[in-house]
Amino acid sequence: MAKSYRKFLKLLEQWPVDSSKLNRDLGQHIRERVKESFKTGEIYPTDENECSRIHDSLKRLADNQYGQMYPRKSNFCASGLSADECHALLTTEFLQNQEVLTKEKPIHIPVMVNEVLECLKPQPGQIFIDMTFGAGGHSQCILESAPDIKLFVLDRDPVSYSIASRLAGKFPGQVEPLLGKFSELPELLRSHGVRHNSIDGILFDLGCSSMQFDVAERGFSVSKDGPLDMRMDGYRFPEQPTAADVLANANEEDLVKILKVYGEEKQAKKITRAVIEARYTFKKLETTSELGELVASVCVDEERLDKLQRHAHSATKTFQALRIFVNNEINELNYGMILAETYLKVGGKLVTLTFHSLEDRIVKRHLLGNVIDNAINPLPLKYTNHSLWYDRNEIDSLLHSNWKLIHKHVLTPSVEEVNVNPRSRSAKLRAAIKVRDK
Ligand SMILES: C[S@@+](CC[C@H](N)C(=O)[O-])C[C@H]1O[C@@H](n2cnc3c(N)ncnc32)[C@H](O)[C@@H]1O
Repeated sequence: MAKSYRKFLKLLEQWPVDSSKLNRDLGQHIRERVKESFKTGEIYPTDENECSRIHDSLKRLADNQYGQMYPRKSNFCASGLSADECHALLTTEFLQNQEVLTKEKPIHIPVMVNEVLECLKPQPGQIFIDMTFGAGGHSQCILESAPDIKLFVLDRDPVSYSIASRLAGKFPGQVEPLLGKFSELPELLRSHGVRHNSIDGILFDLGCSSMQFDVAERGFSVSKDGPLDMRMDGYRFPEQPTAADVLANANEEDLVKILKVYGEEKQAKKITRAVIEARYTFKKLETTSELGELVASVCVDEERLDKLQRHAHSATKTFQALRIFVNNEINELNYGMILAETYLKVGGKLVTLTFHSLEDRIVKRHLLGNVIDNAINPLPLKYTNHSLWYDRNEIDSLLHSNWKLIHKHVLTPSVEEVNVNPRSRSAKLRAAIKVRDK
Protein backbone atom coordinates (compact mmCIF):
# COMPACT_ATOMS: atom_id res chain seq x y z
CA MET A 1 0.00 0.00 0.00
CA ALA A 2 2.80 2.37 0.85
CA LYS A 3 3.87 2.46 -2.78
CA SER A 4 0.34 3.29 -4.03
CA TYR A 5 -0.05 5.81 -1.28
CA ARG A 6 3.06 7.64 -2.36
CA LYS A 7 1.90 7.55 -5.96
CA PHE A 8 -1.40 9.25 -5.10
CA LEU A 9 0.35 11.76 -2.94
CA LYS A 10 2.64 12.75 -5.77
CA LEU A 11 -0.28 13.05 -8.13
CA LEU A 12 -2.23 15.36 -5.84
CA GLU A 13 0.75 17.49 -4.97
CA GLN A 14 1.76 17.86 -8.55
CA TRP A 15 -1.56 18.95 -9.96
CA PRO A 16 -2.46 22.65 -10.12
CA VAL A 17 -5.79 24.14 -9.23
CA ASP A 18 -6.87 27.29 -11.01
CA SER A 19 -9.47 28.98 -8.85
CA SER A 20 -10.42 31.36 -11.67
CA LYS A 21 -11.93 28.44 -13.53
CA LEU A 22 -14.89 27.97 -11.21
CA ASN A 23 -16.37 24.46 -11.43
CA ARG A 24 -14.47 23.50 -14.55
CA ASP A 25 -11.01 23.19 -13.17
CA LEU A 26 -9.18 19.97 -13.84
CA GLY A 27 -7.09 20.07 -10.65
CA GLN A 28 -10.25 20.44 -8.63
CA HIS A 29 -11.87 17.63 -10.57
CA ILE A 30 -9.00 15.24 -9.87
CA ARG A 31 -8.96 16.14 -6.20
CA GLU A 32 -12.67 15.46 -5.94
CA ARG A 33 -12.34 12.20 -7.85
CA VAL A 34 -9.68 11.02 -5.42
CA LYS A 35 -11.79 11.98 -2.41
CA GLU A 36 -14.87 10.36 -3.96
CA SER A 37 -12.99 7.21 -4.85
CA PHE A 38 -11.75 6.81 -1.31
CA LYS A 39 -15.19 7.55 0.08
CA THR A 40 -17.03 5.02 -2.05
CA GLY A 41 -14.36 2.44 -1.49
CA GLU A 42 -13.41 2.49 -5.16
CA ILE A 43 -9.82 2.82 -4.00
CA TYR A 44 -9.42 0.09 -1.47
CA PRO A 45 -6.21 0.17 0.52
CA THR A 46 -5.28 -3.48 0.21
CA ASP A 47 -6.09 -3.85 -3.44
CA GLU A 48 -2.91 -2.90 -5.27
CA ASN A 49 -4.42 -3.55 -8.70
CA GLU A 50 -7.40 -1.36 -7.98
CA CYS A 51 -5.15 1.38 -6.60
CA SER A 52 -2.99 1.27 -9.70
CA ARG A 53 -5.99 1.34 -11.96
CA ILE A 54 -7.48 4.42 -10.30
CA HIS A 55 -4.10 6.05 -10.12
CA ASP A 56 -3.50 5.49 -13.82
CA SER A 57 -6.87 6.88 -14.79
CA LEU A 58 -6.31 9.97 -12.65
CA LYS A 59 -2.85 10.29 -14.09
CA ARG A 60 -4.35 10.33 -17.57
CA LEU A 61 -6.48 13.24 -16.42
CA ALA A 62 -3.53 14.94 -14.79
CA ASP A 63 -1.50 14.51 -17.96
CA ASN A 64 -4.34 16.20 -19.75
CA GLN A 65 -5.04 13.26 -22.05
CA TYR A 66 -8.63 14.40 -22.06
CA GLY A 67 -7.49 17.90 -22.85
CA GLN A 68 -10.33 18.43 -25.27
CA MET A 69 -12.84 17.42 -22.68
CA TYR A 70 -11.44 19.66 -20.00
CA PRO A 71 -9.60 22.36 -21.89
CA ARG A 72 -6.80 24.06 -19.95
CA LYS A 73 -6.51 27.71 -20.81
CA SER A 74 -3.41 28.45 -18.72
CA ASN A 75 -0.65 26.47 -17.11
CA PHE A 76 -0.17 28.49 -13.98
CA CYS A 77 0.09 26.31 -10.92
CA ALA A 78 -1.16 26.63 -7.38
CA SER A 79 -1.73 23.30 -5.76
CA GLY A 80 -5.30 22.94 -4.60
CA LEU A 81 -4.09 20.86 -1.71
CA SER A 82 -1.08 21.60 0.41
CA ALA A 83 1.30 18.74 1.03
CA ASP A 84 -0.23 18.49 4.53
CA GLU A 85 -3.73 18.24 3.17
CA CYS A 86 -2.64 15.52 0.80
CA HIS A 87 -1.14 13.65 3.69
CA ALA A 88 -4.33 14.04 5.72
CA LEU A 89 -6.46 12.77 2.87
CA LEU A 90 -4.22 9.81 2.32
CA THR A 91 -3.39 8.81 5.89
CA THR A 92 -3.51 5.11 6.59
CA GLU A 93 -6.31 5.72 9.14
CA PHE A 94 -8.37 7.51 6.55
CA LEU A 95 -7.79 4.78 4.03
CA GLN A 96 -8.49 1.97 6.44
CA ASN A 97 -11.87 3.45 7.30
CA GLN A 98 -13.10 3.05 3.75
CA GLU A 99 -15.46 0.32 2.65
CA VAL A 100 -14.70 -2.32 0.03
CA LEU A 101 -15.81 -1.45 -3.47
CA THR A 102 -19.48 -2.32 -3.73
CA LYS A 103 -20.57 -4.13 -6.87
CA GLU A 104 -22.05 -1.65 -9.32
CA LYS A 105 -25.32 -2.49 -10.98
CA PRO A 106 -24.89 -2.84 -14.73
CA ILE A 107 -25.15 0.44 -16.60
CA HIS A 108 -25.78 -1.23 -19.94
CA ILE A 109 -27.22 -4.71 -20.34
CA PRO A 110 -25.38 -6.53 -23.13
CA VAL A 111 -27.60 -8.01 -25.84
CA MET A 112 -27.68 -11.69 -26.98
CA VAL A 113 -24.59 -12.59 -25.00
CA ASN A 114 -24.99 -16.37 -25.28
CA GLU A 115 -25.48 -16.20 -29.03
CA VAL A 116 -22.45 -13.91 -29.40
CA LEU A 117 -20.25 -16.31 -27.42
CA GLU A 118 -21.66 -19.28 -29.28
CA CYS A 119 -20.55 -17.69 -32.57
CA LEU A 120 -17.16 -16.41 -31.42
CA LYS A 121 -16.33 -19.60 -29.49
CA PRO A 122 -13.37 -18.00 -27.66
CA GLN A 123 -10.44 -20.39 -27.11
CA PRO A 124 -7.54 -19.93 -24.66
CA GLY A 125 -4.94 -17.48 -25.90
CA GLN A 126 -7.02 -16.09 -28.77
CA ILE A 127 -7.07 -12.42 -29.74
CA PHE A 128 -10.31 -10.48 -30.16
CA ILE A 129 -11.42 -6.94 -30.93
CA ASP A 130 -14.56 -5.51 -29.36
CA MET A 131 -15.20 -2.65 -31.78
CA THR A 132 -17.94 -1.11 -29.63
CA PHE A 133 -16.91 -1.49 -26.00
CA GLY A 134 -19.72 0.60 -24.43
CA ALA A 135 -19.92 -0.48 -20.79
CA GLY A 136 -17.92 -3.62 -21.53
CA GLY A 137 -20.67 -6.20 -20.97
CA HIS A 138 -19.73 -8.31 -23.99
CA SER A 139 -16.02 -7.78 -23.42
CA GLN A 140 -16.22 -9.04 -19.86
CA CYS A 141 -18.12 -12.16 -20.99
CA ILE A 142 -15.51 -12.86 -23.69
CA LEU A 143 -12.72 -12.51 -21.12
CA GLU A 144 -14.46 -14.85 -18.72
CA SER A 145 -15.23 -17.48 -21.35
CA ALA A 146 -11.65 -18.78 -21.72
CA PRO A 147 -8.26 -18.20 -20.11
CA ASP A 148 -5.57 -15.90 -21.52
CA ILE A 149 -7.80 -14.08 -23.98
CA LYS A 150 -6.24 -10.91 -25.36
CA LEU A 151 -8.85 -8.26 -26.09
CA PHE A 152 -8.50 -4.93 -27.87
CA VAL A 153 -11.47 -2.78 -26.92
CA LEU A 154 -12.38 0.22 -28.99
CA ASP A 155 -14.92 2.97 -28.38
CA ARG A 156 -15.16 6.53 -29.60
CA ASP A 157 -16.76 7.66 -26.34
CA PRO A 158 -14.30 8.84 -23.64
CA VAL A 159 -16.72 7.60 -20.96
CA SER A 160 -16.44 4.06 -22.35
CA TYR A 161 -12.69 4.44 -22.58
CA SER A 162 -12.45 5.12 -18.87
CA ILE A 163 -14.62 2.06 -18.15
CA ALA A 164 -12.32 0.06 -20.42
CA SER A 165 -9.31 1.26 -18.44
CA ARG A 166 -10.93 -0.10 -15.30
CA LEU A 167 -11.58 -3.44 -16.97
CA ALA A 168 -7.93 -3.49 -17.99
CA GLY A 169 -7.05 -3.23 -14.30
CA LYS A 170 -9.28 -6.19 -13.51
CA PHE A 171 -7.72 -8.37 -16.22
CA PRO A 172 -4.06 -7.32 -16.09
CA GLY A 173 -2.22 -7.73 -19.37
CA GLN A 174 -5.33 -8.94 -21.21
CA VAL A 175 -7.27 -5.80 -22.14
CA GLU A 176 -5.99 -3.00 -24.36
CA PRO A 177 -8.35 0.01 -24.23
CA LEU A 178 -8.41 2.10 -27.41
CA LEU A 179 -10.11 5.48 -27.68
CA GLY A 180 -11.30 6.18 -31.20
CA LYS A 181 -13.71 5.60 -34.04
CA PHE A 182 -13.59 2.63 -36.41
CA SER A 183 -11.84 4.94 -38.86
CA GLU A 184 -9.10 5.59 -36.27
CA LEU A 185 -8.54 1.90 -35.60
CA PRO A 186 -5.74 1.18 -38.10
CA GLU A 187 -3.56 3.87 -36.50
CA LEU A 188 -4.34 2.62 -32.99
CA LEU A 189 -3.64 -1.01 -33.87
CA ARG A 190 -0.44 -0.07 -35.67
CA SER A 191 0.83 1.54 -32.49
CA HIS A 192 0.28 -1.81 -30.74
CA GLY A 193 2.02 -3.76 -33.49
CA VAL A 194 -1.16 -5.57 -34.60
CA ARG A 195 -0.89 -6.87 -38.16
CA HIS A 196 -3.53 -7.60 -40.80
CA ASN A 197 -4.94 -11.18 -40.81
CA SER A 198 -4.05 -11.72 -37.16
CA ILE A 199 -7.29 -11.49 -35.14
CA ASP A 200 -9.44 -14.48 -34.12
CA GLY A 201 -12.73 -12.69 -33.60
CA ILE A 202 -14.35 -9.28 -33.98
CA LEU A 203 -17.57 -8.03 -32.45
CA PHE A 204 -19.68 -5.03 -33.43
CA ASP A 205 -22.61 -4.14 -31.13
CA LEU A 206 -23.83 -1.04 -32.92
CA GLY A 207 -25.85 1.98 -31.87
CA CYS A 208 -25.79 3.80 -28.56
CA SER A 209 -25.05 2.56 -25.09
CA SER A 210 -27.46 3.10 -22.21
CA MET A 211 -24.88 5.49 -20.74
CA GLN A 212 -25.33 7.65 -23.81
CA PHE A 213 -29.13 7.38 -23.92
CA ASP A 214 -29.70 7.79 -20.22
CA VAL A 215 -27.56 10.84 -19.57
CA ALA A 216 -29.65 13.90 -20.43
CA GLU A 217 -26.56 16.08 -21.09
CA ARG A 218 -25.52 13.88 -24.02
CA GLY A 219 -28.72 14.85 -25.84
CA PHE A 220 -29.49 11.44 -27.40
CA SER A 221 -32.87 10.82 -25.87
CA VAL A 222 -36.17 12.43 -26.68
CA SER A 223 -37.42 11.53 -23.21
CA LYS A 224 -34.61 13.25 -21.30
CA ASP A 225 -34.34 17.00 -21.50
CA GLY A 226 -30.85 18.15 -22.36
CA PRO A 227 -28.80 20.03 -24.95
CA LEU A 228 -29.16 18.72 -28.51
CA ASP A 229 -25.63 17.37 -28.65
CA MET A 230 -25.59 13.66 -29.72
CA ARG A 231 -21.83 13.46 -30.31
CA MET A 232 -20.65 10.00 -29.33
CA ASP A 233 -17.11 11.37 -29.21
CA GLY A 234 -18.06 13.81 -26.44
CA TYR A 235 -15.73 16.78 -26.70
CA ARG A 236 -12.91 14.98 -28.50
CA PHE A 237 -13.47 17.03 -31.63
CA PRO A 238 -14.70 20.44 -30.46
CA GLU A 239 -15.33 21.50 -34.08
CA GLN A 240 -17.65 18.55 -34.77
CA PRO A 241 -21.20 19.87 -35.30
CA THR A 242 -23.81 18.91 -32.73
CA ALA A 243 -27.40 17.99 -33.59
CA ALA A 244 -28.37 21.59 -32.72
CA ASP A 245 -25.79 22.88 -35.23
CA VAL A 246 -27.21 20.61 -37.93
CA LEU A 247 -30.76 21.82 -37.26
CA ALA A 248 -29.59 25.43 -37.32
CA ASN A 249 -27.47 25.27 -40.45
CA ALA A 250 -28.41 22.44 -42.82
CA ASN A 251 -30.38 23.52 -45.86
CA GLU A 252 -33.91 22.29 -46.30
CA GLU A 253 -33.14 19.76 -49.01
CA ASP A 254 -30.33 18.15 -47.02
CA LEU A 255 -32.37 18.04 -43.84
CA VAL A 256 -35.20 16.24 -45.63
CA LYS A 257 -32.68 13.72 -46.95
CA ILE A 258 -31.17 13.18 -43.51
CA LEU A 259 -34.56 12.48 -41.94
CA LYS A 260 -35.74 10.32 -44.83
CA VAL A 261 -32.63 8.23 -45.34
CA TYR A 262 -31.27 7.93 -41.81
CA GLY A 263 -34.58 8.00 -39.95
CA GLU A 264 -36.85 6.43 -42.60
CA GLU A 265 -39.17 9.22 -41.49
CA LYS A 266 -42.26 9.50 -43.70
CA GLN A 267 -43.03 13.02 -42.48
CA ALA A 268 -39.52 14.25 -43.29
CA LYS A 269 -40.70 17.18 -45.41
CA LYS A 270 -43.23 18.42 -42.87
CA ILE A 271 -40.81 18.15 -39.98
CA THR A 272 -38.06 19.89 -41.93
CA ARG A 273 -40.36 22.77 -42.86
CA ALA A 274 -41.19 23.25 -39.19
CA VAL A 275 -37.49 23.25 -38.29
CA ILE A 276 -36.72 25.83 -40.98
CA GLU A 277 -39.62 28.03 -39.87
CA ALA A 278 -38.54 27.76 -36.26
CA ARG A 279 -35.23 29.34 -37.27
CA TYR A 280 -37.05 32.53 -38.19
CA THR A 281 -40.01 32.51 -35.87
CA PHE A 282 -38.52 31.99 -32.45
CA LYS A 283 -35.03 30.69 -31.74
CA LYS A 284 -32.48 28.05 -32.51
CA LEU A 285 -33.63 24.60 -31.42
CA GLU A 286 -31.29 23.87 -28.57
CA THR A 287 -32.79 21.21 -26.36
CA THR A 288 -34.14 17.71 -26.86
CA SER A 289 -37.52 18.74 -25.47
CA GLU A 290 -37.76 21.71 -27.85
CA LEU A 291 -37.15 19.41 -30.81
CA GLY A 292 -39.46 16.72 -29.39
CA GLU A 293 -42.28 19.21 -28.96
CA LEU A 294 -41.79 20.70 -32.40
CA VAL A 295 -41.96 17.29 -34.10
CA ALA A 296 -44.96 16.26 -32.00
CA SER A 297 -46.75 19.44 -33.04
CA VAL A 298 -46.26 18.49 -36.70
CA CYS A 299 -47.17 14.80 -36.46
CA VAL A 300 -50.40 15.29 -34.55
CA ASP A 301 -52.65 12.82 -36.26
CA GLU A 302 -50.72 9.62 -35.94
CA GLU A 303 -50.15 7.40 -32.95
CA ARG A 304 -46.73 5.77 -33.32
CA LEU A 305 -45.95 2.40 -31.76
CA ASP A 306 -42.63 0.67 -31.26
CA LYS A 307 -41.89 -3.00 -31.97
CA LEU A 308 -43.44 -3.98 -28.65
CA GLN A 309 -46.59 -2.05 -29.55
CA ARG A 310 -45.81 0.57 -26.91
CA HIS A 311 -46.40 4.25 -27.51
CA ALA A 312 -43.38 5.75 -29.28
CA HIS A 313 -42.60 9.46 -29.35
CA SER A 314 -43.21 10.94 -32.79
CA ALA A 315 -39.68 12.38 -32.76
CA THR A 316 -37.93 9.02 -32.24
CA LYS A 317 -37.03 8.66 -35.92
CA THR A 318 -35.93 12.29 -36.16
CA PHE A 319 -33.59 11.71 -33.23
CA GLN A 320 -32.23 8.53 -34.80
CA ALA A 321 -31.61 10.33 -38.10
CA LEU A 322 -29.76 13.22 -36.48
CA ARG A 323 -27.67 10.89 -34.35
CA ILE A 324 -26.62 8.82 -37.38
CA PHE A 325 -25.75 11.97 -39.31
CA VAL A 326 -23.87 13.72 -36.49
CA ASN A 327 -21.74 10.63 -35.89
CA ASN A 328 -21.31 9.66 -39.54
CA GLU A 329 -22.42 6.22 -38.44
CA ILE A 330 -23.13 4.71 -41.84
CA ASN A 331 -19.75 5.52 -43.35
CA GLU A 332 -18.06 4.43 -40.13
CA LEU A 333 -19.83 1.07 -40.27
CA ASN A 334 -19.02 0.56 -43.92
CA TYR A 335 -15.35 1.16 -43.16
CA GLY A 336 -15.58 -0.93 -40.00
CA MET A 337 -16.70 -3.92 -42.09
CA ILE A 338 -13.72 -3.48 -44.40
CA LEU A 339 -11.43 -3.36 -41.37
CA ALA A 340 -12.98 -6.53 -39.96
CA GLU A 341 -12.13 -8.34 -43.17
CA THR A 342 -8.62 -6.88 -43.13
CA TYR A 343 -7.71 -7.72 -39.54
CA LEU A 344 -9.38 -11.12 -39.11
CA LYS A 345 -7.24 -14.13 -39.93
CA VAL A 346 -8.66 -16.79 -42.24
CA GLY A 347 -10.97 -18.82 -40.02
CA GLY A 348 -11.56 -15.77 -37.79
CA LYS A 349 -15.14 -14.92 -36.85
CA LEU A 350 -17.17 -11.77 -37.16
CA VAL A 351 -20.31 -11.10 -35.12
CA THR A 352 -22.49 -8.04 -35.66
CA LEU A 353 -25.48 -6.80 -33.69
CA THR A 354 -27.47 -4.17 -35.57
CA PHE A 355 -30.50 -2.21 -34.42
CA HIS A 356 -32.04 -0.75 -37.55
CA SER A 357 -32.43 -1.72 -41.17
CA LEU A 358 -29.80 0.68 -42.53
CA GLU A 359 -27.11 -0.90 -40.39
CA ASP A 360 -28.28 -4.40 -41.13
CA ARG A 361 -28.29 -3.75 -44.87
CA ILE A 362 -24.68 -2.63 -44.81
CA VAL A 363 -23.56 -5.67 -42.85
CA LYS A 364 -25.55 -8.02 -45.07
CA ARG A 365 -24.20 -6.63 -48.32
CA HIS A 366 -20.64 -6.85 -47.07
CA LEU A 367 -21.12 -10.44 -46.00
CA LEU A 368 -22.67 -11.36 -49.34
CA GLY A 369 -19.85 -9.63 -51.20
CA ASN A 370 -22.19 -7.06 -52.73
CA VAL A 371 -19.52 -4.37 -52.41
CA ILE A 372 -18.09 -2.28 -55.21
CA ASP A 373 -14.97 -0.14 -54.69
CA ASN A 374 -15.12 -0.58 -50.92
CA ALA A 375 -18.71 0.71 -50.66
CA ILE A 376 -21.85 -1.37 -50.54
CA ASN A 377 -23.75 -1.59 -53.76
CA PRO A 378 -26.78 0.68 -53.22
CA LEU A 379 -28.95 -2.03 -54.79
CA PRO A 380 -29.27 -5.69 -53.94
CA LEU A 381 -27.79 -7.68 -56.82
CA LYS A 382 -31.15 -9.02 -57.95
CA TYR A 383 -32.39 -5.48 -58.70
CA THR A 384 -29.49 -4.21 -60.79
CA ASN A 385 -30.26 -2.95 -64.26
CA HIS A 386 -31.58 -5.71 -66.55
CA SER A 387 -29.81 -4.28 -69.56
CA LEU A 388 -26.39 -4.73 -67.98
CA TRP A 389 -24.43 -7.66 -69.27
CA TYR A 390 -21.61 -9.25 -67.30
CA ASP A 391 -19.08 -11.75 -68.54
CA ARG A 392 -18.20 -14.80 -66.47
CA ASN A 393 -15.27 -13.14 -64.64
CA GLU A 394 -17.33 -10.09 -63.78
CA ILE A 395 -20.12 -12.24 -62.40
CA ASP A 396 -17.63 -14.21 -60.35
CA SER A 397 -16.08 -11.05 -58.97
CA LEU A 398 -19.50 -9.53 -58.20
CA LEU A 399 -20.66 -12.60 -56.32
CA HIS A 400 -17.34 -13.17 -54.67
CA SER A 401 -17.43 -13.03 -50.89
CA ASN A 402 -14.65 -13.77 -48.47
CA TRP A 403 -17.21 -14.64 -45.81
CA LYS A 404 -19.09 -17.84 -45.02
CA LEU A 405 -22.28 -17.14 -43.10
CA ILE A 406 -22.63 -19.05 -39.83
CA HIS A 407 -26.44 -18.88 -40.00
CA LYS A 408 -28.65 -18.70 -43.05
CA HIS A 409 -30.93 -16.12 -41.45
CA VAL A 410 -30.45 -13.39 -38.88
CA LEU A 411 -30.81 -14.31 -35.23
CA THR A 412 -33.04 -12.21 -32.99
CA PRO A 413 -33.32 -12.11 -29.19
CA SER A 414 -35.65 -14.49 -27.37
CA VAL A 415 -38.96 -13.25 -25.98
CA GLU A 416 -37.53 -13.73 -22.48
CA GLU A 417 -34.56 -11.50 -23.27
CA VAL A 418 -36.78 -8.77 -24.75
CA ASN A 419 -38.96 -8.90 -21.62
CA VAL A 420 -35.97 -8.44 -19.37
CA ASN A 421 -34.24 -5.90 -21.62
CA PRO A 422 -36.69 -4.12 -23.97
CA ARG A 423 -33.74 -2.32 -25.61
CA SER A 424 -32.79 -5.62 -27.21
CA ARG A 425 -36.09 -5.73 -29.11
CA SER A 426 -34.77 -4.65 -32.51
CA ALA A 427 -31.44 -6.48 -32.36
CA LYS A 428 -30.36 -8.59 -35.33
CA LEU A 429 -27.33 -10.82 -35.07
CA ARG A 430 -25.31 -11.86 -38.10
CA ALA A 431 -22.16 -13.93 -37.89
CA ALA A 432 -19.66 -15.09 -40.46
CA ILE A 433 -16.28 -16.75 -40.83
CA LYS A 434 -13.59 -15.21 -43.00
CA VAL A 435 -12.81 -17.98 -45.44
CA ARG A 436 -10.15 -16.39 -47.62
CA ASP A 437 -7.91 -13.36 -47.88
CA LYS A 438 -8.90 -10.30 -49.87
C1 LIG B 1 -24.56 -0.57 -27.95
S1 LIG B 1 -23.11 0.13 -27.32
C2 LIG B 1 -22.10 -1.26 -26.99
C3 LIG B 1 -22.43 -1.93 -25.69
C4 LIG B 1 -21.46 -3.01 -25.28
N1 LIG B 1 -21.45 -4.12 -26.19
C5 LIG B 1 -21.72 -3.48 -23.88
O1 LIG B 1 -21.97 -4.68 -23.69
O2 LIG B 1 -21.67 -2.67 -22.97
C6 LIG B 1 -22.37 0.79 -28.73
C7 LIG B 1 -21.06 1.54 -28.46
O3 LIG B 1 -20.42 1.68 -29.71
C8 LIG B 1 -19.75 2.90 -29.74
N2 LIG B 1 -19.59 3.25 -31.16
C9 LIG B 1 -20.56 3.47 -32.06
N3 LIG B 1 -20.02 3.77 -33.26
C10 LIG B 1 -18.68 3.71 -33.11
C11 LIG B 1 -17.57 3.93 -33.99
N4 LIG B 1 -17.73 4.27 -35.26
N5 LIG B 1 -16.33 3.78 -33.50
C12 LIG B 1 -16.14 3.42 -32.19
N6 LIG B 1 -17.14 3.23 -31.31
C13 LIG B 1 -18.40 3.36 -31.77
C14 LIG B 1 -20.68 3.84 -29.00
O4 LIG B 1 -19.96 4.93 -28.48
C15 LIG B 1 -21.24 2.93 -27.91
O5 LIG B 1 -20.51 3.06 -26.73
